[in-house]
Amino acid sequence: MNVRFSRRLAWGAQENQMAHAEAKRRDSGLACLDLTLSNPTQAELPYPAAAIAQAFADPAAALYQPSPSGLLHARAAVAADYARRGAAVDPNHILLTASSSESYALLFKLLGNPGQAVLVPEPSYPLFDYLARLEGLVPRPYRLAFDGRWHIDFQSLDFTDAAAVVVVSPNNPTGSYLGAEDCDRLAALAAEHGLAIIADEVFADFPIAPATDAVVALAGRPGPALTFSLGGLSKASGLPQMKLGWIAASGPREQVGPALANLELVADTYLSVGTPVQLALPRLLELGAGIRQAIHQRILRNRQALANQIGPDSPCTLLPAEAGWSAILRVPEIMSDEDWALRLLTGDGVLVQPGYFFDLHMGATMVLSLLTPPETFDRGIACVLAAAGRG
Ligand SMILES: Cc1ncc(COP(=O)(O)O)c(C=O)c1O
Repeated sequence: MNVRFSRRLAWGAQENQMAHAEAKRRDSGLACLDLTLSNPTQAELPYPAAAIAQAFADPAAALYQPSPSGLLHARAAVAADYARRGAAVDPNHILLTASSSESYALLFKLLGNPGQAVLVPEPSYPLFDYLARLEGLVPRPYRLAFDGRWHIDFQSLDFTDAAAVVVVSPNNPTGSYLGAEDCDRLAALAAEHGLAIIADEVFADFPIAPATDAVVALAGRPGPALTFSLGGLSKASGLPQMKLGWIAASGPREQVGPALANLELVADTYLSVGTPVQLALPRLLELGAGIRQAIHQRILRNRQALANQIGPDSPCTLLPAEAGWSAILRVPEIMSDEDWALRLLTGDGVLVQPGYFFDLHMGATMVLSLLTPPETFDRGIACVLAAAGRG
């Protein structure tokens, strides 16, 4: 009898049509203009490679002193980084992880019983489904609505037997920060239902045009709900390969203490953050400021180039964005967004992500990475806009 694998993996490994078309193109040796790049280390950005290597030269790395929440000096560096963003966070309310994805996994273990729901925004980053299922939880979407600005559709929130509610601010790919009113209303509802908020703020450092009431940091913001804010080196410092993220807990004092004690128990079971990267963290955060600036300039430049290329008679619309690394382009609804993406790939050699990858259900949309090197970006969007113009 064959071994059966866990039902946690029940989503299967079916290849979508886009992945299939992309693999076929690659196998035939044909290059493409890739407008989906999300790895900053491959985006032709200037990295201070020697200084990064130097940051790992601390001989203290020879000593292993396991600490479930992370070395204090590293947590203090994260707290100082929050202070830069105007958020007051106690280093003792911070726990280091190997990545934001791991932060989700630890928090889902902390908060959920098998089979419970975790409320996740839609449209958003597609990994939640897998992250929740791998912890034995069931993702339950709630909608974000767009009326010129994105906001939570509160009618779509179903708190029944839910373990936590996830917010992504700024959201990927909509680029929307949580507005103050939505934030307060959600916190009140979460507190009323005894749910924690998990606030993914990994793109918070990349503003484009934030609304005046945008909540630029949920971390350290006083409120009635137990809140875990997620950040990490991956996006804010453009260093995903370092595998270092963090969770900052805030909310009612009587809940934060026990939450952190239990979270430490979970983290203690794995102790997954390496000592060298913790020792290097203060320096990596310093160096990250320059990398962040280069990424920020790139996304602002590319967004402007896209806005400039869309002529007044173009059938395409660029959706507004407050922050983040993505642009959403609305194209004529003469076919589905998947068919648009397939046609662009096979016909024009341009790779884009169709909006449905992110559960963007608003006609035909495509998501473009603003991280793309400018020359590729300009050529790619010229092809996209020409194809949309031809209809
Ligand atoms: C909204 C969001 N959260 C988290 C992550 C993953 O971050 P990390 O590399 O720290 O796991 C991503 C990656 O694209 C993301 O888009």
